[in-house]
Amino acid sequence: MAITIKTPEQIEGVRKSSHLAAETLKYMEQFIKPGVKTIELDKICEDFVRSHGATPATKGYRGFKHSCCISVNEVICHGVPNETELQIGDIVNIDVTTILNGYFGDTCKMYFVGEPSDYARRLVDTTKECLRIGLEQCFPGNHLNNIGYHISEHAHKHGYSVVYEFCGHGVGLKFHEEPDVSHIADKNTGPILKPGMIFTIEPMINAGKARCKIDRKDGWTARTIDGKLSAQFEHTVLITETGFEALTDVYGEF
Ligand code: MF3
Ligand code: CO
Ligand code: CO
Repeated sequence: MAITIKTPEQIEGVRKSSHLAAETLKYMEQFIKPGVKTIELDKICEDFVRSHGATPATKGYRGFKHSCCISVNEVICHGVPNETELQIGDIVNIDVTTILNGYFGDTCKMYFVGEPSDYARRLVDTTKECLRIGLEQCFPGNHLNNIGYHISEHAHKHGYSVVYEFCGHGVGLKFHEEPDVSHIADKNTGPILKPGMIFTIEPMINAGKARCKIDRKDGWTARTIDGKLSAQFEHTVLITETGFEALTDVYGEF
């Protein structure tokens, strides 16, 4: 299977779904406070997505039962919403994927519960910069892996490690399509980017070691091996004739 080039009609469908995913995160923001349970946030996510005529892609995906992933502190990704209450000082990732009219949009971002430590804030800021740097590599004719090359250079410069066991991915007509988008990669390798490609960039950056371990009880929650903090931002990105459109960047943060 090759990397699909989306038609204008498909692009418009993915754009609408991506906008809804971003709006869902924006809506959820007001509920992220000390004492809220992550399972309550999941319900808020599900209700918002469904009330806009869409479904949460994670629900029932390979046995995942929830409408979003909520990954707190040392959880790298795929955090399963549960009875845990958020606490002041936590850093929280919420990852929402919508299916609207059959099209997928995928985005995640970090939130602070109360004031973070300088240590936590620096990690989150650097991770956001990593996504921005990845986006700068999105233009026709460039090698896909220059995204991961530049992301990893930036993370390493700050003394952080890059998760290699999870990648970005083609998205749009399915949840996970070709290609895999590595966040640590060799310069000038990989496929050539072309207008109409749509994929996610979703760097997971760790304060300590890169390796992760999966929770044996739920089979999903991916934690850092050393218990140190991890952060992630994700956008769904379209390659255009001149560069890129971050389809989930509805609020112009990037
Ligand atoms: N949204 C995640 C991603 O960015 C995937 C979550 S799959 C789940 O690829 F099953 F854990 F929800
Ligand atoms: Co994704
Ligand atoms: Co995602």
